[in-house]
Formats: sequence, structure tokens, C-alpha cells
Amino acid sequence: NSRGLDLADPLEFGAMDRARDAFRVQQWQAEPLMASPHLGTANREPLRNPADHADLVGTVRAANAEDVAAAIAAAGASNWASTPVIERAAMLRRAADLYEAHAAELFALLAREAGKSWADAVAEVREAVDFLRYYAQEAAMLSGAPRGPFACISPWNFPLAIFTGQIAAALVAGNPVLAKPAPQTPLIAFRAIQLLREAGIPADAIQLLPGGPEVGAALTSNPAIAGVAFTGSLPTARRIEQAMASHLDPQAPLIAETGGLNAMIVDSTALTEQAVRDILASAFQSAGQRCSALRIVYVQEDVAERTVHMLKGAMDELVLGNPWQLATDIGPIIDSAARDKIAAYIAARQSQVLHALSAPDTGTFVAPTLIAVEGIKALPEEIFGPVLHVATFKGDDLPQVIADINGSGYGLTFGLHTRISSRVKHLADTVHAGNIYVNRNQIGAVVGSQPFGGEGLSGTGPKAGGPHYLPRFTRDAQVGLQS
Ligand code: NAD
Ligand code: ALA
Repeated sequence: NSRGLDLADPLEFGAMDRARDAFRVQQWQAEPLMASPHLGTANREPLRNPADHADLVGTVRAANAEDVAAAIAAAGASNWASTPVIERAAMLRRAADLYEAHAAELFALLAREAGKSWADAVAEVREAVDFLRYYAQEAAMLSGAPRGPFACISPWNFPLAIFTGQIAAALVAGNPVLAKPAPQTPLIAFRAIQLLREAGIPADAIQLLPGGPEVGAALTSNPAIAGVAFTGSLPTARRIEQAMASHLDPQAPLIAETGGLNAMIVDSTALTEQAVRDILASAFQSAGQRCSALRIVYVQEDVAERTVHMLKGAMDELVLGNPWQLATDIGPIIDSAARDKIAAYIAARQSQVLHALSAPDTGTFVAPTLIAVEGIKALPEEIFGPVLHVATFKGDDLPQVIADINGSGYGLTFGLHTRISSRVKHLADTVHAGNIYVNRNQIGAVVGSQPFGGEGLSGTGPKAGGPHYLPRFTRDAQVGLQS
């Protein structure tokens, strides 16, 4: 795995901080990057720093319906599939080196376009680099044949790592890619595609189509698309599934990774300080804008008062603010629509709020908030922000707690804090979740060693960053017999 950057090393960090400063006021531009020149829609839309709306980060010109059709036609005519897999993998490795060489600019984009703290930005570039190298390595084991043009549709919360991971997998398996980034984060996507092209990937094998749902819908409903890699919310995954019903090839795969109602159980044998540290990171790092983030913690009744008391104190130490500053723990919410939705959710539950911080008044922030609930059934849907629900349970209630967690239908991450080893085994066997973490936080799966993905409503599988992912981008090779 990529070694990343040691934020605690003054020399190493200082040099990178100065290099990133060169991009403090830079303005980037994004537009469709296609096999033939296209500029997309007439309007350039401004993109503002979610932590400080006075900071204009750049502008984007979205793709239009003609661009989508032209890009799919060019991908269909591409001979990328006949590029030997060893060369495709070498290009991914070159791209990984280029990402590292341009890390300062990527860190600047992650902070200013996506509101990522230093720690989150470092983890994100590492993960993107890891995906490129891991899939390059795994490609040597591929036996299937390419499928054809693949639509890769990604969310804003990992605008480099997930965006790159989907593309790298589809490409190395021999499929030309149509990449649609989230409308909130096209600038870093544009730079990433430029770097992938600089690494040798031809223009008809990797095309960028910035835009919103309409661009995604035009892609996924086009019968020439041979497969879709999607990461985002459950309702969008369902819409894509319906759109793909019109496809000529009923086998065209939809690889969908969606959200979760992720729980943690803290029993009375847990080490409180350790549990609180891990609850804090799981619920509030990235302002809770991770699919893996903790949404509800169940604390055993006899340690609940102590745990919640310590949790409130730990929350008070969190620094909210502009992620450009190293001291910032928690950055902004991605945009005002998301902020308003979370704020309305909290406002409707004011009487249950146990603790809340106060948020800066620039940009779009939501203060980390603790809400008391009876259990997971009180959570209507995934609230994608720094809102942590707290429930208590008695020892005898544990089977019911597990049944309720499983009853949500989701199954992405699950956390457990306990010193009872038989309980670890029991819960790992009975809780339905793709990634289960014991006595640690439940975010930040590492490519190659912690394949990531959910069960049930949380995703179709296979897990990203694991050995079963690439084959899904291929079909069984047709071996013709010589007559
Ligand atoms: P979203 O579903 O709103 O959008 C995701 C992408 O789909 C965007 O590019 C969007 O423009 C596109 N899209 C929207 N409507 C479409 C349509 N009808 N057809 C095709 N494409 C369409 O999600 P978001 O707000 O960008 O991301 C947050 C969500 O992503 C959360 O639910 C989170 O849990 C989930 N997520 C899951 C994982 C995972 O690995 N399981 C990782 C990160 C985020
Ligand atoms: N892979 C990301 C995490 O584990 C979503 O937090």
C-alpha cells in the first residue's frame, strides 16, 4: 500500500504543505473529456469551497445528451480490449506514480472542492493509488474477456478514490470507460482523467462526462453500455437498475455499492476510553459523510452514563472549520441541500438531543450532534452527516438488538467493543454486515487487506479492493473450437 504522508513529521509535512499552498487560489476548469473535442453544455457553472463560499474553486461545463451518445459510440469503436493486459496494468501503475507526483494539487482540490481535512485527503490519495496498483496486480489473474463500454458513476464523498477505483477496475479488465463524476466534484475528476491519459490510456478508452442525474440516466439507459459500476445512494441504485432493464444484454452487470445504517455495540467489558475514541472517529470523521460511518451506537446500560459523559467531553475537543488548516478535525457538509436535510432532521428531534457542538457560519457546516433513541428502528433512513444516535441495552436484550440491526435490511459496516472473545465470534457470525470491526473504529477499509462492500440493501458485491472485484468486469471467454 501507498505510504501516504506523515502529518506528524515537520519536514515531510512542511514541504507538502508549502507545495499545496501553490494551489491556494488556483481555479480549475472541468468539461467533457472525450475521444473527439466536445465542450458540453453552453453554461459554465461555478464550484465553491463548501467551507467558504467566497472561495471560487473553478467552473464546470456539463456534458449534454449528444456528448453521451458520441462518447458511447467512440467507446464502442475503441480497440482498448485488444491492448495486452500487461500493458493495461503498466498504464495503471504509471497513473499511480503520477497521482503521487501530483499529490499537492490533489490535496488542494480535496480540501477546496470536497471539504476534506488533511487526514482525510491523505487517506483518499493513498486509497486511489492503492486501487490503481492493486487492480494492476490482480489483472494478472484475470481469465475472462472484456465486456465492452462500462459506465462508472461515482459519489462526491470519495471523489478521487472511488472515482479512480471503479475506472481502474473496468479499464484493466479491458473495458472502455465512460466516467461520470458527482456534480459536486468534477474538478478533481477532470484532473484524474488527465493523469490517466498522461499515463498512456487512450482517449477512446477513458472519457469523462461531467453532469448530474440526467447524464447518469442517459448513460445507464443506453443499451450499448455493457455494464455499470455505481457507488451512491440506494434510491439512485434502484433507478439505475430500472434503467438497465432496457438493455439488450440481460447479463450486463450492475455493480452497486450503496449506503448503510451502521451500528456499533459497546458492552460493559469494553475499555471506555478506547470505545469513545473509536465512536468519535467512526461517527464524525469526514463530518459523517462516509457510507461506512457509525449511525447508531448501542451501549450496555451499566456503562452508558460513563460512556456518554466521556463521549460528550471528547466531542467538545473536536475542531470544526476550514479543512485547509491542519488543526481542523471536521470540515463542511458538501452542499446546502445536504446541509439543510441534516439540519431539518436534527431540528425535528430537538427534544432528544443529548449534546451538540456549534458550527461555523461560513460555508455549509453541521455541528456534530448526539441524539438519544430507543433503537435502530427509530432511524428512518441513512442521515449522511455528523449525527450519532445513542441507544442503551440490557445484557438480556442482545439477541433483540442484533435482530433489529439485521432487520434494517442494510449491511455495510458493524463495530463491536468488547473483551469477551466468544461474543466477538457470535456477533461476527450473526450480524449481517460486509465489514465488521472489533475494538477499533469502523471506517477506512484498506485496499487489498480489507475488501470493502455491503450486504442486503448496502450493495450487490463484489467487494471493492478485494480479489473477487475484477472478474465481475469480465465475461467468461468464448473459446471457439477449430473445425
Ligand atoms: P447519489 O446516489 O445522489 O449520487 C451518486 C452518483 O449517481 C452521482 O454521480 C449522481 O449524479 C449519479 N446519479 C444520480 N441519479 C442518477 C440516475 N438516475 N442515473 C444514473 N446516475 C445518477 O449519492 P451521493 O449523494 O453522491 O453519495 C452519497 C451516497 O453514496 C450515500 O448514500 C453513501 O452511503 C453512498 N456511498 C456508498 C459507498 C459504498 O462503498 N457502499 C461509498 C461512498 C458513498
Ligand atoms: N472505504 C471507505 C471506508 O471504509 C468508504 O470508510
